[in-house]
Amino acid sequence: MEILVTGGAGYIGSHTCVELLNSGYEVIVVDNLSNSKRESLKRVQEITGKHLKFYEIDILEKVSLEKAFSENNIEAVIHFAGFKAVGESIKMPILYYHNNITGTLILCEEMRKYNVKKLVFSSSATVYGMPKSVPISEKFPLSATNPYGRTKLMIETILQDIYASDKEWSVAILRYFNPIGAHESGRIGEDPNGTPNNLMPFITQVAVGKRDKLSIFGANYATHDGTGVRDYIHVVDIAKGHLKALEKIMKTRGIEPYNLGTGVGYSVLDVIKNFEKATNKKIPYVISEPRLGDIAECYANPIKAKTILKWSAEKNIQDMCLDAWRWQINNPNGY
Ligand code: NAD
Ligand code: WQD
Repeated sequence: MEILVTGGAGYIGSHTCVELLNSGYEVIVVDNLSNSKRESLKRVQEITGKHLKFYEIDILEKVSLEKAFSENNIEAVIHFAGFKAVGESIKMPILYYHNNITGTLILCEEMRKYNVKKLVFSSSATVYGMPKSVPISEKFPLSATNPYGRTKLMIETILQDIYASDKEWSVAILRYFNPIGAHESGRIGEDPNGTPNNLMPFITQVAVGKRDKLSIFGANYATHDGTGVRDYIHVVDIAKGHLKALEKIMKTRGIEPYNLGTGVGYSVLDVIKNFEKATNKKIPYVISEPRLGDIAECYANPIKAKTILKWSAEKNIQDMCLDAWRWQINNPNGY
């Protein structure tokens, strides 16, 4: 079965391509390499010993994107392509709305034209905004606190409207919590440009000596140790969740959101301790001001994905730390 993966050269996309190829799918990647390198796809093929087809294409370019549909026999799409940096989205909202929303609209137009109506979409726990309580279930009210989050919320609404207008569609909306870690081979992983925004890549860069110390953004939250609590989940578990979602949408019609999280929350200090234990590296840190827009606690109720998709996370925080570290030491400067 041929699967189109938009954004397949990126962090989560590349790990998902590995799982797809290992499970016997034929993979067609469309990526404009705006936040990734061709090398990641080379390594995906090296890890799996299988070939994938790559189009260096911007999904905003309808005519180019159409080639991927006309030249292949695509049966379903996994849609990762988009921009994801919260701070950047506040500074460049037009860029974010255009890339994420227009890109998805163009993709859906092409899908409809080629009668491909099976879609797995990368959403985010960010659509829960400032949740009133934890753990967060899919039924919680949705809101967003920044342009990036609003693009995800708007795309979810657009997909609901598409399904409402044509009941042949089958869409899985996957709301990821905090994906971290890397493939256990240490060959593919997260490769941020410049200073990392996210906790784990910052920690690994401190551990490898690229940065002096970590700043912990706030230590007065109402959590067990005062630092922010998140549901960190291994990127390979996230990737596997896509295969389960794909199996589901191939058999059914409808549109459903699913949380992809572990259901367990770890604080920033917990992550540091676990990283130090897993790797034997010391992470110097200072406490600094809370980051604007951050919430105290965010973790999933993952029961819906467990019961309906038959998926749950298998890897623990030690695996996440060790695998993130292996990727970092093997690739100190990324790809
Ligand atoms: P990433 O930046 O590593 O991957 C996104 C890929 O999309 C990149 O390879 C980029 O080059 C490509 N891309 C962007 N715009 C494109 C366009 N117009 N045409 C073609 N390709 C384009 O990000 P990721 O961490 O792998 O995230 C994948 C998806 O999951 C994104 O939609 C992101 O918003 C979502 N998500 C990520 C996280 C996270 O923490 N990483 C959490 C929740 C949701
Ligand atoms: C985790 C914790 C920080 C960096 C973001 C997006 C979200 C989703 C996942 C895409 C928080 C603390 C961080 C640092 C720190 N992405 N921290 N020092 O903010 O939960 O989620 O990525 O959809 O939309 O907002 O993840 O890794 O940035 O932060 O203390 O240098 O680590 O305050 O408590 P976040 P994160």
